[in-house]
Amino acid sequence: MTAMLTDWSGLADLFETHDYTVDAVVELIGEQAHRAMGRNATVAAVRALGDRTDPLATLTRLWPLQRVVDRDALERALPGLVDPLVADGILTAVDHQILAAVDIRPYASDDGASGWVVSDLSPGLDTVTAPMRPDFVLGVSSASATLTQLTVRTPVRRALDLGTGCGVQSLHLSRHADEVMATDLNPRALELAELTARLNGVTIDLRLGSLYEPVGEETFDLIVSNPPYVMSPPGDEAERLTYREGNSAADGLVEQVVTGGAARLNPGGVLQVLGNWAHVRGQDWRDRIGGWVAGTGCDVHVVQREVLDPYEYIELWLADAGLAGSPLYPARYAAWCDYFEALEIEAVGMGWLVLRRTDRAVPHLVLEDWPHPLEQPIAPALEAELVAVDLLAGLDDRAVLARTWTLAPDVVEETQGTPGLADPQHLVYRQQRGFRRAVQLDTAMAGVLGACDGELRLDQIVASVARLLDVDPATLAAQAVTRVRDLARDGLLLAADPAR
Ligand SMILES: C[S@@+](CC[C@H](N)C(=O)[O-])C[C@H]1O[C@@H](n2cnc3c(N)ncnc32)[C@H](O)[C@@H]1O
Repeated sequence: MTAMLTDWSGLADLFETHDYTVDAVVELIGEQAHRAMGRNATVAAVRALGDRTDPLATLTRLWPLQRVVDRDALERALPGLVDPLVADGILTAVDHQILAAVDIRPYASDDGASGWVVSDLSPGLDTVTAPMRPDFVLGVSSASATLTQLTVRTPVRRALDLGTGCGVQSLHLSRHADEVMATDLNPRALELAELTARLNGVTIDLRLGSLYEPVGEETFDLIVSNPPYVMSPPGDEAERLTYREGNSAADGLVEQVVTGGAARLNPGGVLQVLGNWAHVRGQDWRDRIGGWVAGTGCDVHVVQREVLDPYEYIELWLADAGLAGSPLYPARYAAWCDYFEALEIEAVGMGWLVLRRTDRAVPHLVLEDWPHPLEQPIAPALEAELVAVDLLAGLDDRAVLARTWTLAPDVVEETQGTPGLADPQHLVYRQQRGFRRAVQLDTAMAGVLGACDGELRLDQIVASVARLLDVDPATLAAQAVTRVRDLARDGLLLAADPAR
């Protein structure tokens, strides 16, 4: 894959003509067969295509299904492009039959980004597992989607996609950033990311090198990274799977992505990183990550979505490498156990980090376990949190009391209690959107928050509730301020117009 004989914009035009899109492919093969493809099973889709040889069926058979297609059928779909694609190493020709050497598949996403993504062929179709080449370039994965869904999509001037792989994050960034830079350690990844960019008619400044090396001291308004976070034991460098593991000990690579990124943010700039982190004997994971972000001048929200024990973790990633069923499996498993024991890693946290450079004297820090289902995309909730944190940082307690607040429209009240009793024993306000958080309230706080309709000021509400329940107004005011700050940050309460 070195020559560039293919006319990529011509190829994109033909894809448009044949409606080679996610929706059209789903319609062609049916929802169930499409879901089976999501589980790496292709037989249902192949059966759905039958003996159709129209262009959309031919493209679907060639790329997403990785089947041989007849040259004449492909010539009808891509006139004049088959030979250049073969010469460029994108396709392989054997006699009159053509096979894909590289994957090109339609892409669509919640935020409207759509087009085609070029990557290596999906491994493990129909349970055929085989070890992967070390410079394998992964296509769009569930981790890619997690990052696209949490990336804040405010328009920015400069964005960086660190470890671009197939270029999917850059495809999204190019919709809301004036300039997009993308880096990767793997030259093959940059080649494929360039093809993704060409096919989609976007300009990306692609740079080869490790971590922030190719970036130097340049700074950005938004940095996103789905880095090679897998904590695997050091082994033969030639066998390291670049798409998923670095050569740092434990979670050292994620730490470098975070600290290096924080140092390259413009004021107000945002860094969003997926990661795995070590739970080391005797250390709280929050302290570990707290150490990475201390002194960066950034507000920080870290969400630990899942924790795996060492064996669950090892099994997950050995299977991902195509080693399930291989004779190498037991020895690799044992070496990984030795590695974790030597580093005293008792578990592995998986999740994401959001940093924003605010240079506050006291940064806003939230490091939380949140394994519950979220609304996706979660980015709007994160963006609202950044705005709320700024607002709250500018309000002292008196100002919080002097404002009007209103419950967010997605908050519902749930009560639980013994039938027949006048008062519920449990009262919960639950968000229907975003993080879908729930907070338990006592009668006084429920009285205060329930009256937050954007008309009365918080101090007026506190005074009436204190009078009604015969409680100390100063104590209730202090409790209300703390609660309002938390709920406003989490999006359950909204600041009403300050002029009211
Ligand atoms: C998990 S893939 C992510 C690909 C893509 N950004 C996505 O979201 O799907 C990680 C990428 O980081 C690249 N990578 C590995 N080590 C790196 C390093 N030290 N510096 C920069 N990129 C690296 C890999 O080649 C791979 O393309």
